[in-house]
Amino acid sequence: MRIIFVTGGAGFIGSAFVRLILEETSDVKVINFDALTYAGNLENLKGLDPSRHEFVHGDIADRKAVFEALPENADAIFNFAAESHVDRSIESADEFLRTNVLGTQVLLDAARYKKVKRFIQISTDEVMGSLPEDDKSFFTEQSPLRPNSPYAASKASAELIVRAARKTFGLDTIITRCGNNYGPRQFPEKLIPLMIANAMNDEPLPVYGDGKNVRDWIYVEDHCRAIWEIYEKGRSGEIYNIGARNERQNIEVVKSILDILGKPYSLIRFVQDRPGHDRRYAIDPTKVETEIGWKPKVKWEEGLRRTIQWYQENQDWVERIRNGSYREYYRRLYGSRLGL
Ligand SMILES: NC(=O)c1ccc[n+]([C@@H]2O[C@H](COP(=O)([O-])OP(=O)(O)OC[C@H]3O[C@@H](n4cnc5c(N)ncnc54)[C@H](O)[C@@H]3O)[C@@H](O)[C@H]2O)c1
Repeated sequence: MRIIFVTGGAGFIGSAFVRLILEETSDVKVINFDALTYAGNLENLKGLDPSRHEFVHGDIADRKAVFEALPENADAIFNFAAESHVDRSIESADEFLRTNVLGTQVLLDAARYKKVKRFIQISTDEVMGSLPEDDKSFFTEQSPLRPNSPYAASKASAELIVRAARKTFGLDTIITRCGNNYGPRQFPEKLIPLMIANAMNDEPLPVYGDGKNVRDWIYVEDHCRAIWEIYEKGRSGEIYNIGARNERQNIEVVKSILDILGKPYSLIRFVQDRPGHDRRYAIDPTKVETEIGWKPKVKWEEGLRRTIQWYQENQDWVERIRNGSYREYYRRLYGSRLGL
């Protein structure tokens, strides 16, 4: 059995990754290490085979906890654990630096000490800043780090310490940078699940600014499969950008959701923009396509339909979150913007 140590595996992408790997391999055991912050949810891990999946409640910035949980000679660490929401990083960045930067350093130290064979850092296209509104410029692996939000700056910092661990200590590391993910089990503060949940409840849909910010969307399972293939075939020390060549303006995404749910566009409210809001992200995935042979499988229309169907069938999951501490956060962020 190969043993992999997955951090943040109770969150949106981490849980999709754990599910996929347990389904599609037979020789991998997962140790899932997660602090269960507001974004982590054990419900996301229901039904997993306990003989191949062990959950450990712990914080990646807690050196002792990490060193205790990480087995000697593990095959890989996949570091998904992060504070991941830009708007929260604008309110307060401390947790972002603690988890995303210090936590990554602790994992790198532990990987070195325990002789882990490969370290995969899950990063984001946001580290490369914002692109102009044209159809010619794309992020490549050579694009400079130009983060614009505290979240993106913390993820860029994490990339730099991963690089330093490789250069200084010879650790086998790879960094993956992906665009915006969508799919089941995404916390409803993020654009797509926020719009689905509000539309299902006939509540206003707050759209930042003019709604013309562009994001490059990828179905979460396609992202997870790319990470796994990069782990198996990628070259040590490399960065791989992951994208599905699927740029959409936010307003187009919101209208598609309303169309599928059969709800009126009159629910849309344009609200005061996010400070420093990046205008456009777009990934050139040539390297992962040619070198690794990965291609996305799920088309946008199909992925969006599947996602909406999941939220419709799991309204209790959504409502438990909407009725908890998230309600207070939502009012802080959107209350005055929506006149609530
Ligand atoms: N969501 C996207 O569109 C996207 C795109 C590109 C990259 N990423 C990256 O992918 C990763 C996962 O993103 P996500 O959307 O699933 O995030 P998420 O917020 O849904 O989940 C994050 C998970 O990390 C856990 N966590 C947070 N702090 C921790 C700590 N100190 N110790 C241990 N666990 C901790 C949380 O409990 C949660 O389960 C992040 O590193 C993020 O930067 C996300």
